[in-house]
Amino acid sequence: MSVCQALIYFILILTSVYAFIIGIDGPLLHQEALEDDNTTLHCDTTSAISEDELSLLVWYKGDDSIYSYDARSNNEWSSQTFNTSGRLSININKRPTPLYIRSLRADDEALYHCRVEFLHTPTRYTGVNLTVIVLPSKPFFLDEMGNKIEDKIGPFFVGDTLVINCLVIGGRPPPHISWYNGEVLVDATGSESDIPNVRQNELYLPITRNTNRITCKATNTLLSAPISSYIDIEIYLSASNVSIHWLQDIESNTLKAGNNYVVKCIAYEVNPSPDIAWWLNRKHLTQYSNQTWNHMTKTAESHLQLKPTIKDDRATLAGVTTNPAIPPGKNSKADVITLNVTYVPIVEVLTVETSKLNGVIENDTFRLICEVDANPRANRFMWYYNNTNIHENVGWQDYIFGNILIFKKTFRRHTGQYSCSAKNSMGEGKAEGVDITVFYPPECTNNGVSLINEIITCQVRSVPDPNSFTWYIRTDSQFENLTTQSPSISLNIITISLTKTANITCEANNGVAKQQNLCTKVISFKHLRPQAPRQCDLSYERNQFQIHCNPVENATHYEITVWRMSTSNASLILNHKSAMGFGAQALIRNADEGWRVGGQLGTLNEGDEAGTAACNRYGCSEILLLRPTEKLLNAAKLPWWYFFLDKDVGMIVGGVLLVVVFVISTAIAVCAARRSRVKQPAPVIQVVGIDDFTREFLNSTRDLKARSSCSLRSRNSNYFETEEVGLTQWRHLPLIHDPPPPDVTLTRHRESAV
Ligand SMILES: *[C@@H]1O[C@H](CO)[C@@H](O)[C@H](O)[C@H]1NC(C)=O
Ligand SMILES: *[C@@H]1O[C@H](CO)[C@@H](O)[C@H](O)[C@H]1NC(C)=O
Ligand SMILES: *[C@@H]1O[C@H](CO)[C@@H](O)[C@H](O)[C@H]1NC(C)=O
Ligand SMILES: *[C@@H]1O[C@H](CO)[C@@H](O)[C@H](O)[C@H]1NC(C)=O
Ligand SMILES: *[C@@H]1O[C@H](CO)[C@@H](O)[C@H](O)[C@H]1NC(C)=O
Ligand SMILES: *[C@@H]1O[C@H](CO)[C@@H](O)[C@H](O)[C@H]1NC(C)=O
Ligand SMILES: *[C@@H]1O[C@H](CO)[C@@H](O)[C@H](O)[C@H]1NC(C)=O
Ligand SMILES: *[C@@H]1O[C@H](CO)[C@@H](O)[C@H](O)[C@H]1NC(C)=O
Repeated sequence: MSVCQALIYFILILTSVYAFIIGIDGPLLHQEALEDDNTTLHCDTTSAISEDELSLLVWYKGDDSIYSYDARSNNEWSSQTFNTSGRLSININKRPTPLYIRSLRADDEALYHCRVEFLHTPTRYTGVNLTVIVLPSKPFFLDEMGNKIEDKIGPFFVGDTLVINCLVIGGRPPPHISWYNGEVLVDATGSESDIPNVRQNELYLPITRNTNRITCKATNTLLSAPISSYIDIEIYLSASNVSIHWLQDIESNTLKAGNNYVVKCIAYEVNPSPDIAWWLNRKHLTQYSNQTWNHMTKTAESHLQLKPTIKDDRATLAGVTTNPAIPPGKNSKADVITLNVTYVPIVEVLTVETSKLNGVIENDTFRLICEVDANPRANRFMWYYNNTNIHENVGWQDYIFGNILIFKKTFRRHTGQYSCSAKNSMGEGKAEGVDITVFYPPECTNNGVSLINEIITCQVRSVPDPNSFTWYIRTDSQFENLTTQSPSISLNIITISLTKTANITCEANNGVAKQQNLCTKVISFKHLRPQAPRQCDLSYERNQFQIHCNPVENATHYEITVWRMSTSNASLILNHKSAMGFGAQALIRNADEGWRVGGQLGTLNEGDEAGTAACNRYGCSEILLLRPTEKLLNAAKLPWWYFFLDKDVGMIVGGVLLVVVFVISTAIAVCAARRSRVKQPAPVIQVVGIDDFTREFLNSTRDLKARSSCSLRSRNSNYFETEEVGLTQWRHLPLIHDPPPPDVTLTRHRESAV
């Protein structure tokens, strides 16, 4: 290309100023592009005739050319002021031919057109109305007071009205400013502000629980997404929902007593971190709970370890969430559940119609109730009597009615311990035994009244034991009654005479009811009388027969009797009886023999017998009979010369006496030399005992016992109270059959010296 050629075209282009007339020159395209973005302007460079050729392409901005291409010289030119930093480029071979403009500036907005020249075809024009969009600034926020707000605003309470202004600087065309609450458009009424080139949108937003983040969006083109800023709103919230959950797998809040559980209370949508309190019925469970709060999810959780007891059945467990940041009144929310605590039955036996001591009177009615506390309900009862299961027991069938034991009529065999048990799905519980006592009035046992030694005992059976006894003591002629607390009385306290039999009746009283049949017995006290004296001797001293005996145990006094042969018939007749009495007077102390009992008999004749019996308050023993020996009788006989004193013939015998005195004195002198010991007349003593020979003799001569020829006899007779006993009666009385104890046969013989 020659310099001349180039110069010609340059001049041509510069000089051929050509304003594009809309609607006449050619079509007008509308095109939008963003500032700083690229855009492409298209020019139709295709010829209508196939053999035609492009010769010249020129682009104008307004009336100024910015680019030209000369096909004939293949010359390209661009405006230096427009093609700054080489932002303009073209693809000349493409049809239509694109012109690329990069890094658009706000002042690139203009009406562009291209002029295309062909060899044959007429010149063609294409207009492009390019609009360069200038984006606005990022929105920002001002509060009511005009202070800038960033990120976050609040806190607010639900119901407050939020007033906030969103401002945007610049933007071409002027942007729309709209408010979104979350994704929801809440305000699109943007307007000019007092400040030039700034648009704003002031928002009045009632705060609800769902208000969270509000966004301000500014937009002036569809080519780019709206420019937005957001702000988070802090709202103080009371929990929207509180719920209690078990960490274990638990159905319908059914727990086992004594097990450990962890329960969780969740409070949703609560801000800021609340207080979660646990209440079991009216008890505050602080010490076991702890709590977390997630500020993102606004969820609070509290855990509680729970060990339910039986008492907690049907208790309400509440998780109460309180937001301290919110004024009282609507700051708390709770979930409440009712616990169903299951446990092994707790069983107790209740007594009905019994006295305080769990006693019941025989023949009365009473009931036992098996009181059960169980969850779930007990479905099986068992009754126990003295720890034996009586449920299947035939003998008890009429008494057991489920959980009630009914005794329409109580018997004393029902005394004992009762217990019951109940079962549910948790297990079996057994009650403590209850001791039931069946009371009944006193009843005489086999012996009723008994006498042992000198104690009378009233033998009765009763429940409870009698607390008092009334005694009625009756003899032939006397009566006495006594009341004691003890079931025994000593004969000592009976004041009436007990020498005969007595009818003794006792009545016991135990406070339950009157004794129906009194205990009574006729008692003889015979066996309490002393034994008959066993060792006695008969002596003649100081002109009297005397009897001495060894004392008998338990004898209080002695009776001595004199038995004389009747002159008319051959029977012994009681001639004289006297009580020797007791005490020191009757007791004689012999130096080498200890105490002895002595009594005076007076005179005895041949055939007479001396008797002695030991006595006490229950009467006298059998009588020991002694018969004086010939020796004693002789000692008691009057001297032969006694006759002479009576006949007054002393004168006659005086002479004879002198001779005799002489002889005697001589003899005394001789005797005195030999036996100086004899100075006073010693008693003539017959020591009497019974020996085998004598007994045999008595036995063999049973019918002849009374005969006077029996010179020596010792016999126990059985007539105690009889004042006089005839021979025949005496005869028929039984004889001693037992051999006497050995000491009875002992005879001591003291030589008599008269
Ligand atoms: C404009 O075009 C240039 C080159 O073709 C490219 O590098 C750049 O990224 C484009 N700019 C935009 C905003 O598309
Ligand atoms: C724009 O200028 C650059 C150099 O500054 C050049 O390389 C380019 O070809 C020019 N564009 C056109 C269409 O002439
Ligand atoms: C070009 O576009 C702008 C804005 O889009 C408009 O105001 C103007 O009137 C248009 N020019 C013509 C000639 O249509
Ligand atoms: C509370 O939360 C529980 C568990 O998430 C749910 O079952 C219940 O429907 C909620 N109640 C309310 C009133 O939202
Ligand atoms: C209380 O919190 C501690 C620590 O977070 C945890 O180890 C403990 O198990 C919690 N207590 C209960 C009862 O959940
Ligand atoms: C408690 O739990 C037991 C066992 O699951 C059940 O039988 C009973 O009906 C429950 N009671 C209540 C009141 O829900
Ligand atoms: C004497 O009386 C006592 C007390 O009553 C008695 O134990 C004892 O057996 C009696 N002795 C005789 C020999 O009866
Ligand atoms: C013997 O005589 C006494 C009186 O001397 C008289 O009481 C008694 O009955 C007589 N006995 C007989 C068997 O005749």
